[in-house]
Amino acid sequence: MVGLPARGKSFISQKIVRYLSWLSIRAKCFNVGNYRRLAGGSKPNAEFFAPDNIEGQRIREKAVQMAVEDMMNWFYEDDGVVAILDATNSTRQRRDWVLKLCRENAIEPMFLESWCDDQDLIFRNISEMKTTSPDYEGCDPDAATQVFYERIEKYVSVYQPLEEVLDKELTFVRLINVAEQVVINRIETYLESRIVFYVMNLHIKPRCIWLSRHGESVYNLEKKIGGDSHLSTRGMEYARKLPELVRESTGDANLTVWTSTLVRTGETAQFLPYKQLQWKALDELDAGVCDGMTYEEIEKEYPEDFKARDEDKYEYRYRGGESYRDVVIRLEPIIMELERQENILIITHQAVLRCIYAYFMNVPQQESPWVSIPLHTLIKLEPRAYGTKVSTVKADIPAVSTYKEKGTSKVGEPAHCTPAPTIC
Ligand code: SIN
Repeated sequence: MVGLPARGKSFISQKIVRYLSWLSIRAKCFNVGNYRRLAGGSKPNAEFFAPDNIEGQRIREKAVQMAVEDMMNWFYEDDGVVAILDATNSTRQRRDWVLKLCRENAIEPMFLESWCDDQDLIFRNISEMKTTSPDYEGCDPDAATQVFYERIEKYVSVYQPLEEVLDKELTFVRLINVAEQVVINRIETYLESRIVFYVMNLHIKPRCIWLSRHGESVYNLEKKIGGDSHLSTRGMEYARKLPELVRESTGDANLTVWTSTLVRTGETAQFLPYKQLQWKALDELDAGVCDGMTYEEIEKEYPEDFKARDEDKYEYRYRGGESYRDVVIRLEPIIMELERQENILIITHQAVLRCIYAYFMNVPQQESPWVSIPLHTLIKLEPRAYGTKVSTVKADIPAVSTYKEKGTSKVGEPAHCTPAPTIC
């Protein structure tokens, strides 16, 4: 990363790590501020960051060396694929040092600069920083803001942005005011282009994403998986109640509703007074030859498959159908579009919602197929600078549970697995 403090570098770094991890690409962020605190530079005043502060320079130098050492070890010992060195890297001299180290270790470097002169954006970043950074823990908020502006000034005098002529040999991306304008140079690999495309789609406007399963379906009542059945009577009751639930959560905010192409999500969305879009990519995980069967029937007819799925539910692919990994891959355009959009309500299916929830909440891959997403419940996700806040509202309309624990073919909601209000 390259950029002055409060330009959203950590936010962008964490988003990239979460996106790549969700796609099973090993990624990790090395935040030099954290190493600086370990190296003896905790709770620094602005003077600490002055270019002529010898002690400050010594500690900051040590911090970046510690971060780079850990990063190299991670590449070699943990088979890392994408490491992010989250630091200002504000001078050409520092970047040359990083470049040389990478080249010596056969690592392909890509520089990602967040350049920003939008004062509102900078002010918002500083406000976030003063409440979340350990540097300002226990500080008076106004004093912290003042110190932070002074800290930025110390960097401004030495800052050398990436430059189209001087840095023409480097692989780089310059994001100007988030993604108002994007300059790219020498993007040569598939992975680099994926990261560029992802960051081009990011925005930081406040928004919410609501998630709901379809109302209870006839197949749910019969304990069958898959299919394309209609809603049950209670499912229809949920569809009628949904506009009120959504209004209570959104207030007057406008939103767009995304559904799958299956009958039960369309029926659930039918009373919502918002623009609606159908996505094939939101259709339920395809259970192949098991489509339309109950878990008990699957256990009897395909006992080995039943066991294999319990053992590795993320990787298991139904005969003639899909695995959770397959669903994640087909959901990528949905995630990309969600990053571009503002308020969206997604009405879809259990497995699909687990994958979307895992992306926003950073749920490890192997746990994601076991997340409980009950019927008749509206989940609200509020993406913030450093994580996502989640809250749930139950509709108070009974529904069967379709949750199946490991090692059984019986369904029933686990006592403690419902997404709890939290920030991740
Ligand atoms: C920090 O010390 O917080 C960041 C160090 C830097 O990259 O300038």
